[in-house]
Amino acid sequence: MRKSNATIAWRRKDLLDIESLSREEIELILATAESFKEVSRREIKKVPALRGKTLVNLFYEPSTRTRVSFEVAAKRLSLDVINIASETSSVKKGETLIDTGKNIEALKVDIIVVRHNYSGAAAMLARSLRVSVVNAGDGWHEHPTQALLDIFTLKEKLGAIKGLKVSIIGDIAHSRVARSNIWGLLKLGASVKVCAPKILIPAAIEEMGVTVTESLDEAIADADAVNVLRMQFERDSQDAFPKQLEYFKNFGITEERLAKLSKKIVIMHPGPINRGIEMSSAVADGPHSVILEQVTNGIAVRMAVLFLVAQANEYINPTKHFSNPKGENKV
Ligand code: CP
Repeated sequence: MRKSNATIAWRRKDLLDIESLSREEIELILATAESFKEVSRREIKKVPALRGKTLVNLFYEPSTRTRVSFEVAAKRLSLDVINIASETSSVKKGETLIDTGKNIEALKVDIIVVRHNYSGAAAMLARSLRVSVVNAGDGWHEHPTQALLDIFTLKEKLGAIKGLKVSIIGDIAHSRVARSNIWGLLKLGASVKVCAPKILIPAAIEEMGVTVTESLDEAIADADAVNVLRMQFERDSQDAFPKQLEYFKNFGITEERLAKLSKKIVIMHPGPINRGIEMSSAVADGPHSVILEQVTNGIAVRMAVLFLVAQANEYINPTKHFSNPKGENKV
């Protein structure tokens, strides 16, 4: 890992959203992730950075990518990892999120990664606990590490974020991925267009600083990259388009549409993909797609986030688990 001054500038015990981060903080995470990316190319993909600390993955909603990615990232930093799924925990017996969090904290864990269906759940947990809390997606609110890995991938592919034109296509209304991407891209100087059927565009979204269109061809015409969102059938997005084929006809990314463009654009998707609804399989698996590179980059980005919050918490909450070289009680 190359040396960076990341630990000097990061002051947060938690990562809860992108909205509250400064441009410098986002750039710090990206720079730290770049350093950590090299670890995954080694024969022994592990560094002792957080040896002796423990991470709990606390997931109240289904996940493949995010949960496994946090686990892989944590193990590459030598953290011990425990996975808790709400279906098999005492949540089923009626325990509250805060009580669950306090009990996990009492087990002398250092970081809780939480996914929850309520917007604000991660922030509520972070306010109640001294351990670090990382938001792995809260309701419709934010999915900060997804946006960071999307931006990391864009930077890797296109060089710089400043000046890029990025379109976000699909279920904007229900999407925490869209919200986190919009905050992050705008803070780094990109321009963002959102495109969806009217019913899937939240009221006053323009106030975030984006432009809005209902025309897919307009959204992709001059874009450098498009981030295609999943139709969230579990959150009623099908009400907007009862016939999935109709959605695909109007908003699905196809090779034919891409062939009409004057330049090659980058196609992203946070996953899981509904093939034949948001995009064709030919596009998902084709030369424009960086979908699996996003997944790979998620490891380095999450290693960076875990490393930064753990380091900051050593100063904020010195305990017998944390070394406290300066003897200070805050950063
Ligand atoms: N992108 C994403 O959050 O995927 P999972 O739901 O599989 O974690």
